[in-house]
Amino acid sequence: MTDKRVLLIVGGGIAAYKALELTRLLRKAGVAVRPILTASGAHFVTPLSLSALAEDAVRTDLFSLGDEAEMGHIQLSRSADLVVVAPATADLMAKAANGLADDLASTTLLATDKPVLMAPAMNVRMWRHPATRRNVATLTNDGVAFVGPDDGAMACGEFGPGRMAEPEVIFAAILSALESAARPRPLAGRHVLVTAGPTAEPIDPVRVLTNRSSGKQGYAIAGALAELGARVTLVSGPVALAAPAGVDRIKVETAREMQAACVSALPADAAVCVAAVSDWRPDAVFAVKLKKGHDGPPAVALVENPDILAGLAAAGPDRPALVVGFAAETNDLEANARAKLARKGCDWVVANDVADDGSGGVMGGDENEVLLIDAAGTERWPRAGKVEVARRLAARIADALRTGEAP
Ligand code: C5P
Repeated sequence: MTDKRVLLIVGGGIAAYKALELTRLLRKAGVAVRPILTASGAHFVTPLSLSALAEDAVRTDLFSLGDEAEMGHIQLSRSADLVVVAPATADLMAKAANGLADDLASTTLLATDKPVLMAPAMNVRMWRHPATRRNVATLTNDGVAFVGPDDGAMACGEFGPGRMAEPEVIFAAILSALESAARPRPLAGRHVLVTAGPTAEPIDPVRVLTNRSSGKQGYAIAGALAELGARVTLVSGPVALAAPAGVDRIKVETAREMQAACVSALPADAAVCVAAVSDWRPDAVFAVKLKKGHDGPPAVALVENPDILAGLAAAGPDRPALVVGFAAETNDLEANARAKLARKGCDWVVANDVADDGSGGVMGGDENEVLLIDAAGTERWPRAGKVEVARRLAARIADALRTGEAP
């Protein structure tokens, strides 16, 4: 880590003292630290302590002639491998989430093209406030990573989430962020569309036709593609998962909404259809809740939903160069999946056996065992965590787009 450099923004909060210990840990590990101290941060730690531990000058002022002459704020924002904000106050996060830039710290956050890691620290009510929730969601969507906050007693006498993570924990998060920033990003400049989760087709205002898809595999694939630098649009049915870092998620309910969202996300270099789309939907949605009565159960007529995967594979000039489908089968896995490859017109099918093998099956679980099938043959991948399967598939997609193997 001796060639790595961190730009450390120290915001104004009682936790700022922990930034000193963090600086010491980073320097001890050979990581260069270039500190920025906000005006309110300077109420909690002195520029002198920070500078002494960082072994570098502390920048505080956007309009400092000396600093600007030596290194302008734009250049400063790009001079590091990683930008760390610790403590990240509610105010700094709100500014960063909304693109405000009225001091050196916020200007740097807006101007940087480097990954950003924030260690929030604030009162528990501030952390739980809907405005902060919105800002965290926006920043996460923008690709900002977070470490903490922890639960615990706060300096203000309250208890709950809001304490800044301990310096050792932030230090570990920095090392792993530096490692992943150094990883190659073969999908930079590429756009990949991913569908995930189930769809829910309304029967009446309170009932839906849906399935047991958890969305875990699709979300892991979206995350793995983003890790490789892709711009990822994740069109997701209703699931209980947070959007992976750096992924643009569009939430939908029905197959027709999913299809519309996919079509408007085009053009894309690749499309990976992982969603368990309901094959049918009720022909008509009852306007009022169906009631039990003397006439027996209502007749619900079903009509077929559009096939999103087949539609993307036949999208003419808008067809993504690589279209990948999934096949969940309970029997004759390979034969059924190969038939699906032809029927859907896609380039690859990732097939998995969803028959319950006594371990509860893969639906909703954390592991998957898949076959990767294309026109040339079949590869059998060993059973692995869904995240690992996702990383392997993302790497294969990157290879295919790079070599032009994708038709
Ligand atoms: O036909 P089947 O549902 O088994 O095919 C599964 C594959 O097709 C998955 O990739 C799934 O996301 C996709 N699919 C789709 N639209 C549908 C049905 C399936 O995109 N209506």
